[in-house]
Amino acid sequence: MKKKAKKSTRVTSEAGPGKKNNVNKPWGGRFKQKTARSVEKFTESVSFDHRLAMCDIEGSMAHARMLGRQGIIPKGDVSKILKGLAGIASDIERGRFLFKEELEDVHMNIETELIKRIGSAGGRLHTARSRNDQVALDLRLYLRGESDNLSGLLKDLEREIVKQAEKHLDTVMPGYTHMQRAQPVLLAHHLLAYVEMFERDRERLTDARKRINVLPLGSGAMAGTSLRIDRKFVAKELGFASVSNNSMDSVSDRDFAIEFCFAAGLVMAHLSRMSEELVLWNSEEFSFVSLPDAYATGSSIMPQKKNPDVPELARGKVGRVYGNLMGLLTTMKGLPMTYNRDLQEDKQPVFDTVDTLNGTLQVYVDMFPRLRFNSERMAMVASQAYSTATDVAEYLVGRGMPFREAHEVTGNIVAHAVAAGKQLEDLGIKDFLKYSGLFKPDVLKCLSARASVNSRNSEGGTSSRQVALQLRRIKAKLSR
Ligand code: ARG
Repeated sequence: MKKKAKKSTRVTSEAGPGKKNNVNKPWGGRFKQKTARSVEKFTESVSFDHRLAMCDIEGSMAHARMLGRQGIIPKGDVSKILKGLAGIASDIERGRFLFKEELEDVHMNIETELIKRIGSAGGRLHTARSRNDQVALDLRLYLRGESDNLSGLLKDLEREIVKQAEKHLDTVMPGYTHMQRAQPVLLAHHLLAYVEMFERDRERLTDARKRINVLPLGSGAMAGTSLRIDRKFVAKELGFASVSNNSMDSVSDRDFAIEFCFAAGLVMAHLSRMSEELVLWNSEEFSFVSLPDAYATGSSIMPQKKNPDVPELARGKVGRVYGNLMGLLTTMKGLPMTYNRDLQEDKQPVFDTVDTLNGTLQVYVDMFPRLRFNSERMAMVASQAYSTATDVAEYLVGRGMPFREAHEVTGNIVAHAVAAGKQLEDLGIKDFLKYSGLFKPDVLKCLSARASVNSRNSEGGTSSRQVALQLRRIKAKLSR
């Protein structure tokens, strides 16, 4: 979908003048009473589904072309319909279209307006179509566009993270387990871990897109149609890879939307993990990173404060995205075949998920290149807390000692250093020899954080060599 409805969309809830019954409703024929105001208010969806307007028009245009091509409606009427719809699209884009609550949803608003503008030709558009297959189509078109958009934004963010990683191929920092300093790593390695997560997220979005990209139109209300339509033509017109197999399934299933929300939920989970680290790292206690002023906010009472509200909000917004997923799953649970009005509840969670991801990714794409990592501080902290003890144990393994024994011996050395108030690097060869005769003076070379990093040269490890390989692989993927 190229065009989007303007934000300034106007929706009015004023009742039309002097209507005694439902003659103003496209489905009003069998009704003798005017719909109650409370029911109109309760059942309307146009206040939010107006966001599907451009998809609705795109779908209607393809449908009309097909109807003309099949000789189901006159070609002259097709031209009128296309022109009328184009006019409506341009009015919507300019914020000049007034959506009416009494007309319930985006579909009936557009169709009613079309008939108003072009007369009876407009009344032929809904031939061989129901709002049930129409709304399923609109949502699929919408989500196809949005998932492409979000994949693009994710890629942008990955590129920004990669750029920071490239700047920090030499920055040694402490790696953590249990929030305790564990083993030194390269900051680039740490950052690229997030790129791996986001790569999988992109794969998931692309995979969900395959199931989004199926044409439901032509399913009619639920059983198909007696008219000789050409669904493959419509699919081709709208860029769908295939047409749905079962009309009952395609008007009632929303698992494509649920899958999208799940993929989105994981994007947010990953963003929130990264956000949590930025909040911690930006604290005085860590001081590993500083957020640019433009991306932080102040306190209304404490003049000294510079708060990491952006990552905090990103972390917080995960809740609503998970909530949207749970809401949608719950709406679908136990729905009998086929279309039920419950399905109208699918839209707000989907829209909110799209908006939340868009907003969060955009601010991260903006902010990430402006983060300043404090390399000296990270290196200093990495060299403390005995984080090279595993290297000492692996040194002993290299000299033939079974790992369990080496672990024990090294543990004793650490305890000795702790008692003496020293770091491992402060110990001499004599201290080591007290615990094992296998030590040689070269053990002192494996005590620095940098030596430790570079010794971890196993595939996917944190050595400079391995991280450079990772970087090359990921850059190749991102350049596609
Ligand atoms: N606004 C409706 C929805 O979002 C459109 C389909 C209505 N179909 C119907 N038969 N009432 O699901």
